[in-house]
Amino acid sequence: MQHIEHYQKPFLKYLEGFIVNKEPKNLYSPINYILQLGGKRLRPILTLMTADVFGGNVPKAMDAALSIEVFHNFSLVHDDIMDDAPLRRGEQTVHEKWNLNTGILSGDAMLIMAYQLFENYDPQTFQALAKLFSKTALEVCEGQQYDIDFETRDDVTIPEYLKMIEYKTAVLVGAAMKMGAIVANASIENQNSIYEFGRLLGIAFQLQDDYLDAFGNPETFGKQVGGDIIENKKTYLYLKTIALGSDDDKMNLKTFMSNLELSNTNKVEEVKQLFTNSGAKEATQNAVKDYTSKAFEVLETLEIPEEKKQSLRLFGEQLMNRRV
Ligand code: IPE
Ligand code: MN
Ligand code: MN
Repeated sequence: MQHIEHYQKPFLKYLEGFIVNKEPKNLYSPINYILQLGGKRLRPILTLMTADVFGGNVPKAMDAALSIEVFHNFSLVHDDIMDDAPLRRGEQTVHEKWNLNTGILSGDAMLIMAYQLFENYDPQTFQALAKLFSKTALEVCEGQQYDIDFETRDDVTIPEYLKMIEYKTAVLVGAAMKMGAIVANASIENQNSIYEFGRLLGIAFQLQDDYLDAFGNPETFGKQVGGDIIENKKTYLYLKTIALGSDDDKMNLKTFMSNLELSNTNKVEEVKQLFTNSGAKEATQNAVKDYTSKAFEVLETLEIPEEKKQSLRLFGEQLMNRRV
C-alpha cells in the first residue's frame, strides 16, 4: 500500500520545475506565489495514485496531475476575488498582495497553462483529457455562479446546495482521478467508477470544508474562520439550521445574517452558536461520513486488487478527519 508522501514528494519536485521566471514579472510572480504557497496537493496526488492503481506509469501522469493543480489554483485566485477573501493557506490572497487586475490576468494565464500541459500527450490521450477538462471546467464555473446566486436567495434547498458543491468542487476531484485512469488506459467502466468515487469523495470534502470554515482552528486553518458566515454563504450548516432549528433559531439566524450593525466577530460567534444548538453542526459531520461511505461503496465495484483499494480507502479516511 502506498502512502500519500509516495506521490506527494515527486509531485512537488515536478511542480518546482514548472516555476518560471519569465517577464512580465507582474504576470508570473503571482502564479509562482500561489503555486508555491503550499496546500495539500490532494487533487494531483489523486491523479497519480489513480494512474498507479490502474497499473499505469506514474511519471507519465505528472503533466495531467500538474494540469489539475494549476487549474485548481487558478480557480482559487478568482474565487478569492469573488469571495473577498483576505487569506489563503495562511498568507495574503493574490488580489490583496497585488491587486484585482493582477488576480484576474494571472488567473487567466493559469487556466491556459493548465490546458497547455495536455500537449505533452499522444493525440488520443490528449483528446480524452482535453474533453474531460473542458466539461469539468465549465461545470466549475456553473457551480461558482450558483454559489454566488445563493448568497442573495433565502429559499435555497438542500438538493440545490448539493448540486452547487458537486459542480464547484466535486467534479474536479472526480476528473483528477479519471485523468489518472485515462493516462493508465483503464477500461471505460473503471474510468467511470473512479470518477464516481472521486465525485462522492469531493462532496464529502466540500461538506467538511463548510464545517471547518466555521469550526476550524484559526491557528491552523489557513483561511479566515467564519468567512462563509461573513459572506452570507448558504452552506450546509446554514441550511441544516433552517431545517432542524426551532422557530427562534431560524429567526435569529436570518436576523444575524442580515444585521449590518453587528460586527463580523459577533456575527460569526452568534451564528456558530446557532449551528451548534440546532444540531446542524452534528448533522454536517454525519453528512461528511455518509458521503465518504457512499464513495467507499463505489470502490467495491472496481476491478482492482484489494491492496489498491486499501490505498484509496486510507486516503478517503484521512480526508474525512482532516483539520485543514
Ligand atoms: C471554492 O469554493 C470552489 C472553487 C474555487 C471552484 P469555496 O469558496 O467554498 O472554497 P474556499 O473555502 O474559499 O477554499
Ligand atoms: Mn467561493
Ligand atoms: Mn472561497
